[in-house]
Parts: sequence; C-alpha cells; structure tokens
Amino acid sequence: MLKKKNKYVVAVVGATGAVGNEMISVLEERDFPVEKLRLFASERSEGVTLQFEGSDLSVETLNEGSFKGIDIALFSAGAERSKIWAPVAAKSGCIVIDNSSQWRMDPAVPLVVPEVNPQDLKWHKGIIANPNCSTIQMVVALKPIHDAARIKRVVVTTFQAVSGTGKKAMDELLQQTTDLLSFKDVQCAVYPHQIAFNVLPHIDKFLENGYTKEEMKMVHETQKIMGDKSIRVTATTVRVPVFRGHSESINVETEKKLTANEARSLLSTFPGISIFDAPEKNAYPLPLQVAGKDDVYVGRIREDESIENGINLWVVSDNLRKGAALNAVQIAEELIKH
Ligand SMILES: NC(=O)c1ccc[n+]([C@@H]2O[C@H](COP(=O)([O-])OP(=O)(O)OC[C@H]3O[C@@H](n4cnc5c(N)ncnc54)[C@H](OP(=O)(O)O)[C@@H]3O)[C@@H](O)[C@H]2O)c1
Repeated sequence: MLKKKNKYVVAVVGATGAVGNEMISVLEERDFPVEKLRLFASERSEGVTLQFEGSDLSVETLNEGSFKGIDIALFSAGAERSKIWAPVAAKSGCIVIDNSSQWRMDPAVPLVVPEVNPQDLKWHKGIIANPNCSTIQMVVALKPIHDAARIKRVVVTTFQAVSGTGKKAMDELLQQTTDLLSFKDVQCAVYPHQIAFNVLPHIDKFLENGYTKEEMKMVHETQKIMGDKSIRVTATTVRVPVFRGHSESINVETEKKLTANEARSLLSTFPGISIFDAPEKNAYPLPLQVAGKDDVYVGRIREDESIENGINLWVVSDNLRKGAALNAVQIAEELIKH
C-alpha cells in the first residue's frame, strides 16, 4: 500500500517512447505531487536528457536496485519488459501502473479506468494494469449506458492512429507520405503494408479464431473492467493513416429501451465525456480536433432502427492521453487520494 506523503518519487519506464513522453507531460500539466522523477529506457537511450518542470533529467537503464525508494512507477516499455521488471518493482515496495498487455487479464491484477471501476484499485497487490487504448475510450462511453439500460451486445469497428503502435510507426507514416509525394518508392518496416494513403484491417497478431489480438483484447478487457462477463462484444480493429486519435463506430444493444436523447443526456453528465453532436452544423468528433485533449468525445448519437433497443455512437479520443498516459496518471491520482 502507498504511504500518504506530500510528494512522491515517481518513475517512468519507457520514458523515451510515444506514451512515456506523454506521461512526463501529463504529470507536469496536472501538477502531480512529484518529489523526484526518475526516467528509464533501453541502453540505446542511456544518458539522453528529457525535460520535466524546467529541468533536464537523464535517462537511466534498469537494474535490480533501480526501484529502491520509488513510490509509483508508470511502465510503458512493452509487455516483455513489464513481465520481467514489474514484479521486481512491486517487490521493492513500489506500485506499478502498467501500460502493456502483460498483466491486464491476470485475475490477481486490477484493470482500471478511473471513471468506470475505481473500486477495483482497492484489491491491487502492487501491480495495476492500464487497459488497451481502444478499450479505454469505449468503456468510458459504455458505462453510463450499461448502468441505465444494461448492455447485451456491442459491435465495434475502430479506426486507430499509428501512434498506437509507437514512435517508429509515426516515423513510418511520415516517411512514406514524404516519399510518395516525392515520387519515391516506399519502405514498409513496422506494418506489413503501406500505411500512407491506405487502411489496414489488421492490428496486432492474427489468432486461430480469425480475430486479431487487438480485437480480442477489446472483448475480454471490456468484460473485466465493466465487471460483467455477460456483455457480448465483437470487434474489427483497423489502422488508418492518422497520427493521433482513435475513432470508433460503436453499436450497442441494450436490454431496456433508450432513446437517442436519453443516451445523449446520460453520456453528457458522465465524467470524462464531451458531447460533440450537431450534425446540422457538420459537427462530430474528429481525431484532428481531439489530439492533445483529455476527454472522450462522443457524437453521431442515434437509435439503431434495425433492432428494438439499439444505439449508435461515434467515439473519438487521443490514444496517447486518455488511451494511455492520462489514464495511468489518473490511476496514480486515485491512489494518492485514498
Ligand atoms: N501508443 C499507444 O497509444 C499505447 C496505448 C496504450 C498502451 N500502449 C503500450 O505502451 C507501451 C509503450 O508503447 P509506445 O507506443 O510508447 O512504444 P514506443 O514509442 O516504441 O516506446 C517504447 C519505449 O520502451 C523502451 N524500451 C524498449 N526496450 C527497453 C528495455 N529493454 N528496457 C527499458 N526500456 C525499454 C523504449 O526505449 P528506447 O527509446 O531506449 O528504445 C521506449 O522508451 C507498449 O506496451 C504499448 O502496448 C501504447
């Protein structure tokens, strides 16, 4: 358990990455009570300096003693690193908030979105998992609907930004776009196909059931966070040539009837949601508008006329913020509150 203090020693593991960088900014912007910030990455980044609150901090590499004296560690260095180092950190008395997929479905590890299931933080044993980016924004939108009308089934299609794959993928989209506009051949290293000016219905590995791992994460993580295994979810996850901000088309079937206005009113009063829904003015959430913002934006709220009790939503959020860094820092804020 975290001892109450005025300020905490915080670590970011994977500090040089797309999410790690954002974590440093979010800690600073939200004035998280940081006594000292320690930054870790791979040997490639040893000695690199990053800015926090006006100071240059050097990036360190990890060793068995790295977590001594650290109160909270935000991990964002991939599942393999989390598998090895999160238990080492927890053993040193540090609370780990892990962004990777490594611990999410472990029954002994809570998987938390603070607006949805903050109560699950009570039973952590040193490691808390941050859900997948596409799941976080979806469950924030589903929660008020589930509480009011009980969700039976969700059909979701995602349109996910390349920053969801990390820094190298952002570089690849930029490079391919530049090369194509210069009439040069493109190189594909991160994705199996050209991502510039293209759409790939493939995120993470394919599984035996024909779905991808990303799609099945959305199924299993949603049920765990919502604490309801009876919610049926089917997902198609798609990578699009957008730098930042995931968009999702979500169809929800509920037990109780909700009108579009009732759904809009439930969503508009839920913490962390902004409604942007004025089709007569061509107003609906767009990834370009939400990049760098904290909320989950919901628009195109309408009844599904093909079933008795159905609602369609268009949900957009910044995957690096609410989908990763912000959610992790909000978990840390919940921990220090109690
Ligand atoms: N991007 C998103 O929207 C998002 C959302 C939710 C969750 N996540 C998860 O967050 C994690 C990081 O994603 P990302 O997008 O930030 O990836 P990224 O941009 O590729 O960054 C990876 C980070 O991990 C560090 N790292 C690699 N090997 C390491 C090692 N042996 N020891 C210590 N650090 C090491 C890298 O350091 P170097 O710079 O030194 O290589 C870098 O700081 C992944 O598990 C991902 O699944 C990402």
